Amino acid sequence: MGNARILRDVIISGLCLALLSMAMEATTKVTSQPFGKMPDGTPVEIFTLGDGAYEARIATYGGVLVSMKTPDRNGKVTDVVLGFDDLAGFVRNFNGTSDAYFGAIIGRYANRIAHGTFALDGRKYSLPLNNGENSLHGGPRGFNNVVWKAKPIANGVELTYLSKDGEAGYPGNLTVTVRYTLTKGDLRIEYSATTDKDTVVNLTNHSYFNLAGDGDILNHQLTLHASRFTPVDAGLIPTGELKSVDSTPFDFRKATAIGARINADDQQLHLGHGYDHNWVLDRKGSDLEEAAELYDPRSGRMLKVLTDQPGIQFYSGNFLDGSIKGKGGKPYALHAGLCLETQHFPDSPNHPDFPSAELKAGAHYHTVTVFSFSTR
Ligand code: BGC
Repeated sequence: MGNARILRDVIISGLCLALLSMAMEATTKVTSQPFGKMPDGTPVEIFTLGDGAYEARIATYGGVLVSMKTPDRNGKVTDVVLGFDDLAGFVRNFNGTSDAYFGAIIGRYANRIAHGTFALDGRKYSLPLNNGENSLHGGPRGFNNVVWKAKPIANGVELTYLSKDGEAGYPGNLTVTVRYTLTKGDLRIEYSATTDKDTVVNLTNHSYFNLAGDGDILNHQLTLHASRFTPVDAGLIPTGELKSVDSTPFDFRKATAIGARINADDQQLHLGHGYDHNWVLDRKGSDLEEAAELYDPRSGRMLKVLTDQPGIQFYSGNFLDGSIKGKGGKPYALHAGLCLETQHFPDSPNHPDFPSAELKAGAHYHTVTVFSFSTR
């Protein structure tokens, strides 16, 4: 009896120790420091989330993922997202004519709204245009262009922003919370929002990935778990059709090099100047599911994208032309990076048959996307 009790106590304390060390291992180091000041003097901070070889840095300006360091198959660590070394670089780009939204949180409505207009509850809303005759990524002053409030949380940082009723043309006071957490190679982004008037919401992160850390992304192999996509018109507004990817360069159901078909003679590729389309995810339910997998055969780095959203915009960096000088002064040439933006379909407020992006007054918006980095 006595021996059995001793044995039980030893097992229990052993288990406790194991659990404790697992908990300690899972704790990501979170620190913050000043990142600079906005032109009006508002201070901006940068949070560093570090877990072993993985490190994410997030700025309170635009909620930008400034850098994401991940090891390759030999353990060599590289930053795999495009952007700038300092705050001034982001502020200049996000306020200029070649706004590329590097790493930013996009809102209130990610992607395009045709002619910047939509109707809700019988009222017509007009948004400022910033993409030809359309509104893109929340308009000229979107969520990428504001300084968020921030506080450290377990394994990460919580950002909040109040988008006021009428701001950027959208109805309702929208309180938005975005939590970035890092555990090992998993960067989890959790978006929440509430509104006091019916409105539309579509939040995403606009990171440009390059798993090799340099060169272009044409040799990256992409898998998209999607049998259909939303073809677009010349303004990149969905026509409304959900088109099968069968026998088209849009079929990424099996891992395929991005460069393999990007120059194919295909009308949709011509309109997008490459890939700049929304794929309709083949979902099983409404929880987190794998949407995409990106693999760089050279470095062995892999990125899995998991989401609960209905769509994903795969943008192959078609408007990068070398004129933007990024980190280390490096010009970002055509296809220097690619975006995988989990989202509601573009222009959903004008397509009643698309999944609705409406948020009712008092209702909770909640969505999660995980960028999961590993090697193979
Ligand atoms: C859009 C592109 C746009 C880019 C701006 C992407 O999300 O789909 O058309 O040029 O954002 O960086």
